[in-house]
Amino acid sequence: MEFKKFKEMEIYPSRDLSYDFLGIHFENPFILAAAPSTDDLEMVRRGFQMGWAGAILKTTSIEGTTVDLCYPMMSTFEHEGQRLFGMGNIDLISEHHIDNVETRVKLLKKEFPEKMVAASIMAGRKEDWQRLVERLEKAGVDLIECSFSCPQGNIGEDPGKMLAQSVSATELTARWVKEASTRVPISIKITPHVTDIVEVANAVKRSGCDALTASNSIQALMGINVKTFTPYPDLGGRSTYSGMTGPAIKPITLRTIAEIARHVDIPILGTGGAGTWSDAVEFMAVGAGVVEFCTVVMHYGFRVIDDLRSGMSHYLDEMKFSSPEEIIGKALPNIVSHDELPRKRIRNHIHEDLCIG
Ligand SMILES: Cc1cc2nc3c(=O)[nH]c(=O)nc-3n(C[C@H](O)[C@H](O)[C@H](O)COP(=O)(O)O)c2cc1C
Repeated sequence: MEFKKFKEMEIYPSRDLSYDFLGIHFENPFILAAAPSTDDLEMVRRGFQMGWAGAILKTTSIEGTTVDLCYPMMSTFEHEGQRLFGMGNIDLISEHHIDNVETRVKLLKKEFPEKMVAASIMAGRKEDWQRLVERLEKAGVDLIECSFSCPQGNIGEDPGKMLAQSVSATELTARWVKEASTRVPISIKITPHVTDIVEVANAVKRSGCDALTASNSIQALMGINVKTFTPYPDLGGRSTYSGMTGPAIKPITLRTIAEIARHVDIPILGTGGAGTWSDAVEFMAVGAGVVEFCTVVMHYGFRVIDDLRSGMSHYLDEMKFSSPEEIIGKALPNIVSHDELPRKRIRNHIHEDLCIG
């Protein structure tokens, strides 16, 4: 389909992009993901002022939890001159514990009552998961996201292993969290690093939790310096596996969201590789209700929200959709198994003058 062109550099005027999802009112489908850009009160304020509909504050934990960060924590994956095709990080959760996050939630909800303020949590013991939920509900959050997929491992559990890689641990922990909540929807942030994502999604559904965040970074080794044989990021000659994010992982996320949406009836928050309004449309077309952004914001700044809102407004007008909500799941009927594909022989024609032999 051809879209009417509006002049380059011209911003298409943003229209009403609001709708309800998970019982929460969203000004638009664009949310700041749990990341360094939501780990500072001033930055979240700025993001909200610029037009982001909501933010998931960076993953927090109970007071006294050790968060032992290593620097440098980021490296890039460049491809054919594209500066940031993917980004690797060896970050952990926030150094700010729950007491700090409670204060931030209260302030943000007071200053921006119309924005979706969410917190992300991680714990080891049942009582800590439940305490975090109770305290955040009291502080006034709109949504709680539970990190079951930190690539650097899970506090107090099996270090190096993600909670969401075990179906039984996912169901058990999700039940604890849901048990403690009285008011706000709970979303479980999972990993695509499993044999069958549908089994994990079904475990979350059985737990009674309200939504899934799909998904997270992809485990990666970002590269090797071929002179020193040091992997990236180089921490004094040593390194470890990173979590890769950004454009390079978008197709993996699309498949993860689609696979869940095709088999499990549960709302999905999409995250992992979205950078533009059309990426967001794609995430929504395969089943995401809203889309979270991280790497693109770290690369270009909060102002990318202008392009997201403007592009989405233009798209909805051209498609004659009344709300972004209408996009959700639109591509799902067109995703089928290999044996359901139409069988049609295609003949190749060779352009002799273009053929590289
Ligand atoms: C430096 C960095 C730190 C992150 N920290 C967290 C975190 O604390 N909790 C969490 O759930 N996700 C965390 N993420 C993952 C993001 O929320 C997001 O799911 C991921 O980056 C994929 O989205 P993107 O491709 O838009 O960046 C982090 C990502 C980056 C790059």
